[in-house]
Amino acid sequence: MTVTAIRGDFLHCLADPGEAGDASAVEHLRDHVLIARNGIIEALRPAAVTPLGADVRVADHRGCLIVPGFVDCHAHYPQVDVIASHGTQLLDWLEKYTFPAERAFADRAHADAAAAFFLDRLLENGTTTAAVFCTVHPVSVDAFFAAAQSRNLRMIAGKCLMDRHCPEWLQDTAQSGYADSRALIEKWHGQDRLGYAITPRYAPSCTPQQLALAGRLAREFPDTWIQSHVAENRREIAWARELFPEAESYLAVYDRAGLLRERAIYGHCIWFDAEDRARMARTGACAAFCPTSNLFLGSGLYDLAAARAAGMHTGLATDVGGGTSYSMLTTLGEAYKVQQLQGATLAPAQGLYLATLGGAQALGLADRIGNFRIGKEADCAVLDLRSTPLAARRTSLRDNALDAFFALTLIADSRAVVGTYVLAERIQCLW
Ligand code: GUN
Ligand code: ZN
Repeated sequence: MTVTAIRGDFLHCLADPGEAGDASAVEHLRDHVLIARNGIIEALRPAAVTPLGADVRVADHRGCLIVPGFVDCHAHYPQVDVIASHGTQLLDWLEKYTFPAERAFADRAHADAAAAFFLDRLLENGTTTAAVFCTVHPVSVDAFFAAAQSRNLRMIAGKCLMDRHCPEWLQDTAQSGYADSRALIEKWHGQDRLGYAITPRYAPSCTPQQLALAGRLAREFPDTWIQSHVAENRREIAWARELFPEAESYLAVYDRAGLLRERAIYGHCIWFDAEDRARMARTGACAAFCPTSNLFLGSGLYDLAAARAAGMHTGLATDVGGGTSYSMLTTLGEAYKVQQLQGATLAPAQGLYLATLGGAQALGLADRIGNFRIGKEADCAVLDLRSTPLAARRTSLRDNALDAFFALTLIADSRAVVGTYVLAERIQCLW
């Protein structure tokens, strides 16, 4: 039985603050102590009235802001070396940079090294949970889950299903994709904090038969996740419509295959109409909003307000390596700008929610992670408001933790994250 304590100022969402950013949904607790037993939150009390036994280890972060570990709803660990590749939009970027890089993940040692690098970057940035694409190779999933398990992380991942429209050396078949995914589910899903995501890469890379078998898996294993891409880029959409002329829309292709349900997370969802949004809301599928990727690949602007009005859930995501940063702080800053460009805004409280409890909600994990409620898993990020002279100057202007957090999303980077805790244990990694 291990009891650990973490002391500092805590900031977390108790509920969805809504578009207006209702501040009562956010709790700011000055100089409190979080007590965890075997990694589970047992108490969160004012430090002044919390005597601790001599045997309890206390991590003292007084003066820092402690937030729930960030939740990245969509990223690609095999794209560690694809990040910041110049000059193309989605379909050419896949051909020129991404598919060649993914080829190397047939090799376990290569995959092990990339998984370690990727997870260290997440932890360096305070991210403790992510939904992650591996490659078509089952061994790439083994490497990722083994690396996540050894760090005690809550991670969701899966093998890409792709049996057409990609290089022949990166293809599976409908049957082998089904069999390999099934074996990986049986091996990894529910082990410690790991969950499996059935991962049809996107409709253009899957035959109708492969999508149908993915849907069969989703029915056979109803508590697995599903992840894919949809409505990201205009050329991609036109192509999907050509390939599936019988479907009412690109999104409907997934619906017909039984791939829209709770625990289904679709990257991008930019070029949606009212019917698409209604379909997402009706089925319980969620969008992953990937602002740095959408700007970098020139894909378009995600309309958060329209998604919310339609009753559809959104999580926030880096989409590394289409995305350009591992930092969910930076990602939030770019999310804010994407809303500004559409004449909308993103309230600081809504931003904090998107990166923590909202992401947990989108992934169906809000009973486990996302805030500091008693009984949840003690994953958190410790933010230093004074990590740079600029951050120190800006965050000292007002005595308001949410305003300071908002400022960090625009002007800070991984230097602001001075500690990341997983199940109340501080993670030391190579940064
Ligand atoms: N659509 C299909 N594959 C990918 C990918 O790897 N990244 C992005 N951003 N979109 C995709
Ligand atoms: Zn993606």
